[in-house]
Amino acid sequence: MKFYENVLGLIGNTPLVKINNLTKQYGIKAQVYAKLENLNPGFSVKDRIGISMINDAEEKGILKPGGTLIEATSGNTGIGMALVAAVRGYKCVFVMTDKVSVEKRRYLKAVGADVVIRPAAAKYGTPDHYVETAKRIARETPNSFYPDQYNHPANPLAHYRTTGPEIWNDTEGKITHFVASIGTGGTITGTSRYLKEKNPNIKVIGADPYGSIFKQYKETGQVPEATPYLVEGIGQNIPVGNADVKIIDEIINITDRESFELSRQLSKKEGIFCGGSTGTIFGGALKVAKDLDENAVVVFIVCDTGEHYLTKHHSDEWMKEKLLLEPQKITAGLIVETKNSGSPHELIFVSPDENVEAALTMMNEKGVTQIPVLKENVSVGSLRESLILTKLIENRDLLSAKVSEIMEKGFPVVDVDAPANEIKSKLRKSPAVLIEDFKRITGIITRSDVLDLPN
Ligand SMILES: Cc1ncc(COP(=O)(O)O)c(C=O)c1O
Repeated sequence: MKFYENVLGLIGNTPLVKINNLTKQYGIKAQVYAKLENLNPGFSVKDRIGISMINDAEEKGILKPGGTLIEATSGNTGIGMALVAAVRGYKCVFVMTDKVSVEKRRYLKAVGADVVIRPAAAKYGTPDHYVETAKRIARETPNSFYPDQYNHPANPLAHYRTTGPEIWNDTEGKITHFVASIGTGGTITGTSRYLKEKNPNIKVIGADPYGSIFKQYKETGQVPEATPYLVEGIGQNIPVGNADVKIIDEIINITDRESFELSRQLSKKEGIFCGGSTGTIFGGALKVAKDLDENAVVVFIVCDTGEHYLTKHHSDEWMKEKLLLEPQKITAGLIVETKNSGSPHELIFVSPDENVEAALTMMNEKGVTQIPVLKENVSVGSLRESLILTKLIENRDLLSAKVSEIMEKGFPVVDVDAPANEIKSKLRKSPAVLIEDFKRITGIITRSDVLDLPN
């Protein structure tokens, strides 16, 4: 029979996959390969260190049966540890910041972990900081193990023993450039140590978000003030033990916009559905590869799966809210979906046979000053409160007239896929635009709904 003893046997031995369409699109001659760490059983590169730190603690007798695993994590190390906990019967508590996606929080709960959330804004060393909180919970919990992935030697060692040799063997020693991110630093430090031992000419490139300290720290030895960024799991505001910046040849800063855009392109053009940090890394890989010839072999890490970020950068709504979506991708449908901060909204309209008084009452109740008139879901006219009131001053009897008798021409109608520019130009002449989807009016956009759009 062919089977694995348990799910932990699936960790590692991830494949290299060649990038084709995007290298062509960006005019790259070098061979670029993605190492698909998203194919680990917990869908990230961090499965490798979960088991390695736990094995080490078991061997040293630090972790005893029935013990509790506690760690500060951006989610993926937690998932890697939770898999081991499930198989070997440990309890686990993970402390994360409120920056971590809801998908990763739910994932951890689903695999049996307790999750504690701390504010991302808390300063390092203060009681509210997620690392401090994890340390405190570990102190207060009997028979617990707090590995501290930022400093535990079994973190880079896992990559020295597995990720490095896998890349060396799969490229038959031809790798010339290795590109990874720096979170705890375990991946880049451990993998690079192995690769450079094999061939000291291999160049190691760290891709880091703007706002993180690593580039300046490596180049000047100074620790700059960190600023916030949106990519999860990578970058730091202080140096960490497992990030050996000396082994990295060059650190390249990448913006959130580029990271998310490239992560989305990897999904759409290569079928590699990945997280934001992979976009950061791929950004670094493209920048290095553009000056290399076809003999160069660039390997970059695909850190985790895009499924962890379905409500984040893989959602157009989220990208629009963060002002990161390219203007041409902002469509009528997206504007309607994201107005009112994404809370459910109904299309408010009146029928031409309704009387004016009922229409006015409805407009008052709903707080709208203009309203479409629809008959069987087709636009037949519109009403403006100011105009009705002016007419009513002259003739009060109009209150009992039919809407069709006093309505004006209908608002312009655009298709649900119409771009923002078309809608904005229509809104210069009309107070509202109606959205049509398969011949049915499904939404309305008014001037205030487009105020937050980029020009
Ligand atoms: C999504 C993601 N990408 C990249 C990394 C960085 O890996 P490392 O901690 O080995 O530097 C992490 C680490 O948690 C992560 O969660």
